[in-house]
Amino acid sequence: MVHVYASMRGGKAFILFVLGTSIVMAIGAQAVSTLDDAARLVRLNRFTEAMVAIKSSLATGKEKPSRVLSDVAFQPLQVDSSQRAEVRKILAQNVIENELTMVFPNEPGIKLRVEGKVVSQQDGAPKAGVIVYLYQTDAKGIYALIRGEDVGSRNPRLFCFVKTDSAGKFSVNTIVPASYPETTEPRHIHWEIHQIGRQGAFLFDDDPVLTPALRVKEAKYLQKVSEVKGVKVIAPVIKI
Ligand SMILES: [Fe+2]
Repeated sequence: MVHVYASMRGGKAFILFVLGTSIVMAIGAQAVSTLDDAARLVRLNRFTEAMVAIKSSLATGKEKPSRVLSDVAFQPLQVDSSQRAEVRKILAQNVIENELTMVFPNEPGIKLRVEGKVVSQQDGAPKAGVIVYLYQTDAKGIYALIRGEDVGSRNPRLFCFVKTDSAGKFSVNTIVPASYPETTEPRHIHWEIHQIGRQGAFLFDDDPVLTPALRVKEAKYLQKVSEVKGVKVIAPVIKI
C-alpha cells in the first residue's frame, strides 16, 4: 500500500511516498517566488523571508533586479546595513540589465543619467557583457549612516550593478552626488569592475569645488556634464 503525503511549509513543497513503514522517495521543490511576493513580505516586515523570495525570483532571470533598488516597496530593506549588504550580495549574483535606475523616486537630489561605455584600451573596441559596480554618496555627501557615522564606501546606500550591452554601453539613472560633508573633495561616482580588479571614479567638470590646480590633477577623471530636460547627463568611457 502506497501512501502519499504532501505538505507545504516555509515555501517548500514536499511529497513523501511511503511504502509500509519506510520512506522510499522524497521530492522537495523550492516554490518559485516573484518580486511581488517579496514586496508583500517586506510590507509585513518579514525581511528574512523577503530576502529568500528576492533570491528565488531573480534566479528565474525573468525579473528586473534593479526593481529592488528603485521600487519603494523594497526601501525598508535598505535601512538596515546588514540587510543592505545582503541585497548587494544578491544583486551582484544577478546582473542582467544594461539600463536601470539605482535610486528610489523619493531620493533627494538633482537627477543624473550616466550614459557609460566600456571599451578596449588597446583598440577602442566595445566590451560587451562587462559588469560594472557603481556607488556614490547622496545629495548630502553621505555614503550611509550607522548611528550617525558615515560607514563610507564599504556599504554605501546608493549603488548598482549594470552590464554592458553588445555595443559596450550601459545607462544608469541616479542623482548627482555631493562632496563629502565639510570638505572640498570633488563629488564623484566610483566604478569597479570586479572581473578584472579595476576601479576608478567619475568626477564632474561643473563641480564648483574644482580649482584650476584640481582640474589639472583630476583631468583624466573629469566628465563633461550636459543637461537634457532637467536631467544632468555624463557619458564616461571606461578603458579596460
Ligand atoms: Fe568616494
